[in-house]
Amino acid sequence: MAVIRLHLPPDRSYDIVCGRGILGQIGGRLSATGGRRAVVIADAAVSATHGRRVAESLADSGIQVLPVEIPAGEGSKSVAEAGRVWGLLADQAVDRNTHVVAVGGGVVGDLAGFVAATFARGIPVWQVPTTLVAQVDSAIGGKTGINLPAGKNLVGAFWQPSGVFADIDALATLPHREYVSGLAEVVKYGMIFDPDFFAWLEANAADLVARSPDQLMHAVERSAALKAAVVERDEREITGARAALNYGHTFAHAFETAAGYGRLLHGEAVAIGMSCAARLAADMGRLAADIPARQDALVARLGLPVSLAGVGPLDADELLAIMARDKKSLDRRLRFVLPSRIGAVALVGDVDEARVRRVLAG
Ligand SMILES: NC(=O)c1ccc[n+]([C@@H]2O[C@H](COP(=O)([O-])OP(=O)(O)OC[C@H]3O[C@@H](n4cnc5c(N)ncnc54)[C@H](O)[C@@H]3O)[C@@H](O)[C@H]2O)c1
Ligand SMILES: [Zn+2]
Repeated sequence: MAVIRLHLPPDRSYDIVCGRGILGQIGGRLSATGGRRAVVIADAAVSATHGRRVAESLADSGIQVLPVEIPAGEGSKSVAEAGRVWGLLADQAVDRNTHVVAVGGGVVGDLAGFVAATFARGIPVWQVPTTLVAQVDSAIGGKTGINLPAGKNLVGAFWQPSGVFADIDALATLPHREYVSGLAEVVKYGMIFDPDFFAWLEANAADLVARSPDQLMHAVERSAALKAAVVERDEREITGARAALNYGHTFAHAFETAAGYGRLLHGEAVAIGMSCAARLAADMGRLAADIPARQDALVARLGLPVSLAGVGPLDADELLAIMARDKKSLDRRLRFVLPSRIGAVALVGDVDEARVRRVLAG
């Protein structure tokens, strides 16, 4: 087991606990902070398994539990679902001494976090991520939110959790495609922050695909620590440090939007997006020419795509228009997080459109 402390001002600092079979510790940790009631908000795919283990741990510590089940899928990050959960909390006379515990992937973490951020002007939330994406990314850092028909994550709040419990045993039931998709974000951490970790991923790719516990534990722990460190430096995405996490994501969001949500999993889009970003950086002379192929080789060994070949043709004009609208681009100019070597990235503005077209053409 590893405990990573995320250091922010005292009222917002917390522990990220990574390990095997740790869900039984939640009750003790939550009751130690004074929690007496808990609303366990769980994804339908895990409510009977991991959700139940969490509820039992809480009950064993004398905490009164209200279970709430959320339908699986991105559709639950909605105004309607947030409204339903607010209503349930109001019916139960939930007050600020009641804690929310989110059990599931990024969908439930973002929804439950947002509900906790807003109900009674904010009640504590604990994150129990059960997908790889959630363990290495979404459960850490306090970004919460829901979608609107006009776009993803348009309504949200920064609301740091009181603690995070990443139990790698919970990933055993994750479908293969979902699991592998999460590995794209793991590669991202190596590329943007940590060359040694990148080399370690190259040496351990096969074991990671096989979910070997020791390798999986190291990958989750290292990724969580790198995410925590950048959140400490830039809690609210103001200094620019947190922007590094968007490596591959300007391309990825365009692919997801143009392909239609659901065709590509987010991590698959990120894998292709990182390939494009690395090739763009090399084309601009910002990155050594051999690095894009090295990154592609690792990504491919993890079972992820490195090109749009399997997605079908996407219109370059449409992709460029979506990227120019991206939150990261100023004045509709194209702006990307680009690597300068393995382990370092920079935000690069005013990128020439012709270069981007070349990269998209493959
Ligand atoms: N807040 C942030 O900083 C942040 C960062 C990255 C992503 N996100 C958000 O996270 C969401 C994606 O998260 P995700 O990839 O975890 O998707 P998800 O929450 O939809 O989970 C993926 C699928 O796995 C199922 N599932 C979850 N845990 C399982 C388990 N242990 N066993 C079997 N099935 C399980 C779910 O029911 C779902 O069908 C997106 O909405 C994205 O916007 C947020
Ligand atoms: Zn991502």
